[in-house]
Amino acid sequence: MSNLPENDVSPTDRGVSKEVEVGQTAGADLWFPSRRLPAPATLPQHLSSEVPPGHSRAANSSILPDQIILRNLSVFFCKTMSCSTLFSLKTPLFTSTTVSHSNNLRPTNYFVTTASLEVGVHSNPKPLLNENPKKTSEVIADEKKFVVGTYARAPVVLASGKGCKVYDVDGQEYLDLTSGIAVNALGHGDPDWVRAVTEQANVLTHVSNIYYSIPQVELAKRLVACSFADRVFFSNSGTEANEAAIKFSRKFQRYSHPDEKQPPMKFIAFTNCFHGRTMGALALTSKENYRSPFEPVMPGVTFLEYGNIQASTEIIQSGEIAAVFVEPIQGEGGIYSATKEFLQSLRTACDNTGSLLIFDEVQCGLGRSGFLWAHEAYGVYPDIMTLAKPLAGGLPIGAVLVTEKVACAINFGDHGSTFAGGPLVCSAAIAVLDKISSPGFLASVSEKGQYFRELLVKKLGGNSHVKEVRGSGLIIGIELDVSASPLVDACQQSGLLILTAGKGNVVRIVPPLIISTQEIDQAVEILIDRIPVLDQASTN
Ligand SMILES: Cc1ncc(COP(=O)(O)O)c(C=O)c1O
Repeated sequence: MSNLPENDVSPTDRGVSKEVEVGQTAGADLWFPSRRLPAPATLPQHLSSEVPPGHSRAANSSILPDQIILRNLSVFFCKTMSCSTLFSLKTPLFTSTTVSHSNNLRPTNYFVTTASLEVGVHSNPKPLLNENPKKTSEVIADEKKFVVGTYARAPVVLASGKGCKVYDVDGQEYLDLTSGIAVNALGHGDPDWVRAVTEQANVLTHVSNIYYSIPQVELAKRLVACSFADRVFFSNSGTEANEAAIKFSRKFQRYSHPDEKQPPMKFIAFTNCFHGRTMGALALTSKENYRSPFEPVMPGVTFLEYGNIQASTEIIQSGEIAAVFVEPIQGEGGIYSATKEFLQSLRTACDNTGSLLIFDEVQCGLGRSGFLWAHEAYGVYPDIMTLAKPLAGGLPIGAVLVTEKVACAINFGDHGSTFAGGPLVCSAAIAVLDKISSPGFLASVSEKGQYFRELLVKKLGGNSHVKEVRGSGLIIGIELDVSASPLVDACQQSGLLILTAGKGNVVRIVPPLIISTQEIDQAVEILIDRIPVLDQASTN
């Protein structure tokens, strides 16, 4: 005991662990939360003697283990913090954790003397599955009965995930190159993300925007520090971010044309664009069959060909355009990148007329392109940028980044949201942003993206169905001359999850940004193996 720092949470001499199994990186950090209390230099002697043969002990480690299973807890020793705090801090969300206690497990600021604690640390990346998982068919049948039928889902019931791997309820492993549609940028169960979420959940989850909260302000500060923007408005999704951007642009135009009866209120969007499903964002979305069942949608939107400089400039010059919505890299539409000339021409035309330039980086932003913001590759900057998908690493969030010029037009009550910018999502987003915005991380996305695309060209480029491999960073499209669905289905059966895009003829690859080159190799192997299904599909 003498080697433990003063004030630490420490096992006593009495009633120490009956069984302790310590895996590679766990060590003392298991019950010495590193954020609040320093980890001891070595494990207490009576525990170290329990380390079974074949298991190493990393006494100084402050790395969160992959999994922790706590069993048979009678009483936990706590001198300075509550037991529940300790567990939620140290227990990743994805684990199956069993904590049973017979007595006296309670928040405490005093010392509890006896304990029996069994700790298992697993470094196996495959998370534990529910002992009694519902069979796939049962879940699918229930979904069909009880959930509104808006989704044509793949017949896979996912139960857990770690890194780039996900597991279904039957224990089948998949390499996930979808990241929940470009959301899980840090993969599944990133330890820093899990720590941020569990720590924050333990303290404060939601307060509404009636009150201030530190994580929201901190996240806004960080977003401003690493972008063109001066201020941030938070929402809960991509479509909501775009909805806010629509309102902000109209308000901005009213504010900057105070004497005009008809200030500019119209919008421009482009072919193959996708901006969301709510009425305003839907009106800006090019796919007609998304819009037509719900018309009338917001009026005043003109769709122009993506990349058409002349048409865009002419319409913007009409002076009726409140804002131009454009994705620097179109995701859903088929992985099309804008040219620098196109974005620059939009910037110039908007500057000449007072229209706002809005970059929708909901899918292509936050590191996915190999740049923190996709527009940085072009050196063209917007008045407003919308973000969502990866920002909170899997929790629902959206953000509208604006310049001061736009923010000046917005008053109290002009827009709002009950949930948006809550402490939990913002803490998660801080963990994500801090990691992704580091130059080393972004460089690795670029390198892996290039490696991936080159490998695809080398291995699949000769296939008669492959028309083009394109993209930037880890947003990659493989355009085919036929529907991509048979290939997507075949890959899924072989343990690889990918998406379609465009008119269904593009394979969309948006893996977690932490994907390794071995996983890229594995994915390409499966694609090579399964691509012959396209021959069968095209002859049927
Ligand atoms: C570019 C873009 N904008 C907006 C959206 C809508 O985001 P959400 O589904 O979070 O509403 C998406 C979703 O795919 C998107 O790709």
